[in-house]
Amino acid sequence: MTKPTKVTLTFDNGIEPIELPILSGNLGSDVIDIRTLGKHGIFTYDPGFLSTASCNSDITFIDGEKGLLYYRGYPIEQLAENCDFLEVAYLLINGELPNELEKKQFSSTIHQHTMLHDQLTNVFRGFRRDAHPMAVMVGVVGSMSAFYHDSVDVLDPILREITSNRLLAKVPTVAAWSYKYNIGQPFIYPQNHLNYAENFMHMMFATPCEKYEPNPVLAKAFERILILHADHEQNASTSTVRLAGSSGANPFACIAAGIASLWGPAHGGANEATLKMLEEIGDVSRISEFIKRAKDKNDSFRLMGFGHRVYRSMDPRAAIMQRTCYEVLNELGLHNDPLFKLALELEKIALEDEYFVSRRLYPNVDFYSGIVMRAMGIPNSMFTAIFALARTAGWIAQWNEMITNPEAKIGRPRQLYTGNTRRDFIPVDKR
Ligand code: SDX
Repeated sequence: MTKPTKVTLTFDNGIEPIELPILSGNLGSDVIDIRTLGKHGIFTYDPGFLSTASCNSDITFIDGEKGLLYYRGYPIEQLAENCDFLEVAYLLINGELPNELEKKQFSSTIHQHTMLHDQLTNVFRGFRRDAHPMAVMVGVVGSMSAFYHDSVDVLDPILREITSNRLLAKVPTVAAWSYKYNIGQPFIYPQNHLNYAENFMHMMFATPCEKYEPNPVLAKAFERILILHADHEQNASTSTVRLAGSSGANPFACIAAGIASLWGPAHGGANEATLKMLEEIGDVSRISEFIKRAKDKNDSFRLMGFGHRVYRSMDPRAAIMQRTCYEVLNELGLHNDPLFKLALELEKIALEDEYFVSRRLYPNVDFYSGIVMRAMGIPNSMFTAIFALARTAGWIAQWNEMITNPEAKIGRPRQLYTGNTRRDFIPVDKR
């Protein structure tokens, strides 16, 4: 059957039918182009954007039915297996994998921008020591526009590239220093001879008192974790970055807005929440109690790390993350890690339960990531910060795509007004 090219809206009150074109992409669902509806004084209603495409994009494709994830057309499995993180960041931002020279130049550029302006250390010191690292990251990244205001002209392609490189290079330093500040240890400066993952691990775990050599197996696994989190089309935080950027706001402020949105437990905060949930369940014998709570509409508890707006099958990232769990736990001699065993059993039981099967709820990227990071010595409070530093690559790519789109307009949704109709002021002595 040929695909439809248009749809006609007919109304039951006799007003003229409206014809709307149907647009097709290269992959995935077609969309009805409703942009002209507003001229007829008619608007659509879709809180949470369950059925609404907010933009066209060439960056990432997800097939929720088949559990597919492509970055610029490359399957995530192939990128996770064969690339390093900066190679994937280059692909997301520029649209092609770098050749040898491009890869060397990009990596060298990023490594030369890893240091923060020295006065930024004062911004960290304005926070209470026990501030959540994500609170510090939102604040420090947002303040970067006050230190790098020479490159915030979003209409200048050269300055956009400089700011993109500064963000990609400096957000790991901000994340690692947010942790060091939290635990009262001195900031460890980036080491430009280390690769992206090793450098972050060094800034996280090294101290001035002894030499720290990142474990190469763990560093490779960490690169893979960053690749898996790098982009995911129009998720909540990416949509936040695009909306903030659509007003012409500076890129540091847009990325800070993305970090803030990612922090929510329904989104990137789920990795930290999943580990807390597993620690609360504690033992396989209590799984059924928590499954029951997750199914109870009167209980706000949800199975963290489960379910997804788009995936109606296994999140391909969860499968790779599970394999990474085995690899890291074996490397560390933790193959009997009780939380990993608990997670495997929880997944098995949930996937045999009609409630989850009928709603097509599967583990997502956050279900196993916390177990891997915890095994690597990363505290729960840093899980989402690491998600944010990885997603900075995707946010930058999506922000650049939005800014350079000739059809770009400021994002300004409409509403269905359900408040009071017109009424007159009542003086206070008459209320
Ligand atoms: C990320 O968008 C992205 O791409 C995000 C992300 C990315 O890379 O950027 O993939 C990263 O955010 C992954 C998701 C991490 N969040 C969690 O793991 C939190 C737990 N999951 C849920 O909160 C939920 O599944 C969401 C938020 C992820 C998706 O919510 P939706 O799409 O709004 O689905 P829904 O709430 O409408 O759920 C449909 C049904 C409901 O039941 P009914 O009303 O039909 O009876 O499924 C139920 C929900 O109650 N449900 C769950 C559940 N998730 C959905 N029930 C129990 N446990 C869950 N986890």
